[in-house]
Amino acid sequence: MVFACSTRLLSLALCLFLQRPSHAATLHPRDAVPSGFEARPYYPAPHGGWVPSWNDSYAKAQKLVSQMTLAEKTNITGGVGIYMGKIWPRRTLIFPCVGNTGSALRLGFPQLCLQDSALGVASTDGVTAFPAGITTGATWDKGLIYARGVALGKEFRGKGANVYLGPTVGPLGRKPLGGRNWEGFGSDPVLQGISGALTIKGVQEQGVIATIKHLIGNEQEMYRMYNPFQPGYSANIDDRTLHELYLWPFADAVKAGVGSVMTAYNAVNGSACSQNSYLLNGLLKDELGFQGFVMSDWLSQISGVSSALAGLDMSMPGDTMVPLFGNSYWKYELTRSVLNGSVPVDRLNDMVTRIVAAWYQLGQDKDYPRPNFSSNTKSRDGLLYPAALFSPTGQVNWFVNVQADHNLVARQVAHDAITLLKNDDTLLPLSTQSRITVFGTDAAVNPDGPNACGNRACNKGTLGMGWGSGVAEYPYFDDPISAIRRRIPDVTFHNTDTFPQNTPQSSPDDIAIVFISSDAGENSFTVEGNHGDRDKDQLSAWHNGDKLIQDAAAKFSNVIVVAHTVGPLLLEPWIALPSVKSVLFAHLPGQEAGESLTSILFGDTSPSGHLPYSITKSASDLPASVSTLRGFAFGQVQDTYTEGLYIDYRHLHRYNITPRYAFGHGLSYTTFALSNATIRAVTPLVPGPLPPRPEKGPVPSYSSTIPPAAEAFAPPGFNFIWRYLYSFLSASDASAAAAAATTNPTIHPAQKTTDLPPSGGAEGGHPALWDIAYEISVTVRNVGTAHAGKASVQAYVQFPAGTPDTPVLQLRDFAKTRELAPDGEETMRVRLTRRDLSIWDVQSQGWTVPEGEFVVWLGEGSDRLGVGCWVQRGVCEGGLRGPV
Ligand SMILES: *[C@@H]1O[C@H](CO)[C@@H](O)[C@H](O)[C@H]1NC(C)=O
Ligand SMILES: *[C@@H]1O[C@H](CO)[C@@H](O)[C@H](O)[C@H]1NC(C)=O
Ligand SMILES: *[C@@H]1O[C@H](CO)[C@@H](O)[C@H](O)[C@H]1NC(C)=O
Ligand SMILES: *[C@@H]1O[C@H](CO)[C@@H](O)[C@H](O)[C@H]1NC(C)=O
Ligand SMILES: *[C@@H]1O[C@H](CO)[C@@H](O)[C@H](O)[C@H]1NC(C)=O
Ligand SMILES: *[C@@H]1O[C@H](CO)[C@@H](O)[C@H](O)[C@H]1NC(C)=O
Repeated sequence: MVFACSTRLLSLALCLFLQRPSHAATLHPRDAVPSGFEARPYYPAPHGGWVPSWNDSYAKAQKLVSQMTLAEKTNITGGVGIYMGKIWPRRTLIFPCVGNTGSALRLGFPQLCLQDSALGVASTDGVTAFPAGITTGATWDKGLIYARGVALGKEFRGKGANVYLGPTVGPLGRKPLGGRNWEGFGSDPVLQGISGALTIKGVQEQGVIATIKHLIGNEQEMYRMYNPFQPGYSANIDDRTLHELYLWPFADAVKAGVGSVMTAYNAVNGSACSQNSYLLNGLLKDELGFQGFVMSDWLSQISGVSSALAGLDMSMPGDTMVPLFGNSYWKYELTRSVLNGSVPVDRLNDMVTRIVAAWYQLGQDKDYPRPNFSSNTKSRDGLLYPAALFSPTGQVNWFVNVQADHNLVARQVAHDAITLLKNDDTLLPLSTQSRITVFGTDAAVNPDGPNACGNRACNKGTLGMGWGSGVAEYPYFDDPISAIRRRIPDVTFHNTDTFPQNTPQSSPDDIAIVFISSDAGENSFTVEGNHGDRDKDQLSAWHNGDKLIQDAAAKFSNVIVVAHTVGPLLLEPWIALPSVKSVLFAHLPGQEAGESLTSILFGDTSPSGHLPYSITKSASDLPASVSTLRGFAFGQVQDTYTEGLYIDYRHLHRYNITPRYAFGHGLSYTTFALSNATIRAVTPLVPGPLPPRPEKGPVPSYSSTIPPAAEAFAPPGFNFIWRYLYSFLSASDASAAAAAATTNPTIHPAQKTTDLPPSGGAEGGHPALWDIAYEISVTVRNVGTAHAGKASVQAYVQFPAGTPDTPVLQLRDFAKTRELAPDGEETMRVRLTRRDLSIWDVQSQGWTVPEGEFVVWLGEGSDRLGVGCWVQRGVCEGGLRGPV
């Protein structure tokens, strides 16, 4: 998600056109997709239900769906319209979520509530504003990532939301300027994949359907959306790059049993993601074996019949590209398309069965709470149909507080993410006797209140999250300056981003803490000239943060920089100044920005966060294809992934470019030593391609006869509400559609795919991909004397010499120790699956293990890899330097 413009009718229609620079609204045919990139047809859409772990749910779904009428089926595959609600019988409860499906109440299937965001229940009170994805990734702590997922799931359930619109693993973080990178976990497929899967596990264990998004290639905000004048950009991605980077975390999500997938706004290889048959039918449903349902991102559906055939299962929020006129590509049009034979009954049955099966799979048929909040108003009472011309009012908010003790996990994530980049002269930790002066508006909460800007579309006060649909309301905001004052009540604070002119030269013991920020978000909003992506401020701190630091460094001999940022920054203007001794990246901490920071500043605990991306010395250290945004073009903007596998550290290693701070870098107040590494073969690994894939299991079957037109009629006297999206057709329309029914096959036989993908066979792809090939154990010891701390163990694979076109090092697993006291130690385990040791072979369309010796490198960052394990020789050695 999502489209997040104003709820007011006129501005909503306008904002469609205002969300990109004005020169974009020019009428032009599209540019050609570069030669070599093609969107191959993949039809028909594979049925769900063939994996054993979903069998029971599909059996129940089949029973329910076989009793549904045509209008009931087409009702639940689409939303009832943007900002529309519905009265629950007898309860006067509206369904007030950002997405609300139709129901089949006659059979007990309710409207489903689909709700933003990935970091908390959006647009309501009584919830926790968790740290963002990028912050969560920076913990490198699987247990914490999972715990955050559990807490998120409890809150969505408590509010009665059926579907959590998260986690985000696309954007993957290919472009440092990309507007929504902060919603995901970092610029690496394995960090994204493991974090996404653990979040899904935590959320779905609470019975909430998780949504992995956005499939795929949404790596910048500008020009992402189709509108009546211009198509969304095309992400042109080659097959191997797609498999080894961008699709990789989606495979983890499917393997984790994710219930839904959201498509991206943009196109891939020239074909819109919401109707790209190769992507949805081929890669997602056949190769990855996805069993749940595919929804469109909000208002990204651009066709009715084509999207149905291409594998889309749910239209969100139900409207056409231009919303609010009561038009839909599906709903009544889908009913018509089935009656007239354009969409096979069989496809509709699969769409509905996937949705109903996901509902059963998560146990939502038993005692699932109904929504008890409204995304449209904060008041108790409100319009029951906010976008309708005439609407009754009634109670819409029950103010259920779902926070419980989730502030604790939120604070722990914020705390364990804080990344110490530099700490000269061990300036940190501070003592409460220190003489401290604090500078920067980012140190204090927005004076207008933490929620003053809708969708957090401003950067005022401490930056706790980016902007757009991926946000939540803060229940309170623990800001850094309040937390510092709890330790040092009379601390001097200059709540300004301009260094006070009259500041005297400080004495050698005085310490300045300078707060800076960098914001980004969805391009439905422009903030201080940044259109979602960081197109104006680029990789520099906002509000002249660099100057503030330089000025402070001129007057103070001890400067600590704290950055709240959506992603990497260029630190070169000040990082080498002798007074800039310590730098902390606190990422986007959510509501718990204060105490999480001060407990590190004052040394209650050591920092243990590590960078989820590289910080380069210059933007041009990365290739132009990722360091710049694709600008305006006539027609469809083409964003071609010419760098292939070489993003972030993979590129820097290839060209021997030393970053300022490497991917995975993070210091502690103590030091750790890794020793006694051992490697053990688990499932024997034979080089070469995968064994033959398993057959698919049985899937539900139904009659494929076009139902009688009467199944589309509304009950006599049905009370239609203006602009609400229904699935009914009038008797005359339904009969006309049935009369037009054609037996011509909708899909040309030449386009039918008959061979099953050789890399499929189970959820997440071929089951052998997930075999554990090797397990490595290593002992981590706190060899410092003064501080306890947690260590991060990161495992990077080096493929055999001669493996074609493969990055030197690629992250494959990670582990975080518990807090180790001085002399304390813990034995950590990391694992390598067959997939981790495979490359995607374009010729055979399969994963293959290259011949030769692999080395797995272990250490505390991609540039601190002192332990190597040779997998065939079965030996590990310490005291090494790593290959780059
Ligand atoms: C895009 O085109 C490339 C080059 O032909 C191809 O390898 C890849 O599979 C295509 N991807 C999709 C999603 O169609
Ligand atoms: C579930 O699995 C059993 C045994 O393989 C099979 O007979 C049945 O058809 C399956 N049910 C569904 C709905 O796929
Ligand atoms: C479709 O869902 C809406 C909202 O719940 C409901 O009013 C309508 O009766 C449903 N239509 C059918 C055919 O069940
Ligand atoms: C709202 O959710 C709470 C907590 O899950 C539940 O107890 C309550 O019944 C729901 N309220 C309504 C009006 O359905
Ligand atoms: C069937 O209905 C759909 C939806 O209105 C329409 O797009 C399509 O052209 C129709 N097909 C025929 C054969 O009438
Ligand atoms: C080294 O690790 C192995 C495997 O985990 C373990 O069996 C052994 O006891 C360890 N040795 C020491 C000295 O810690």
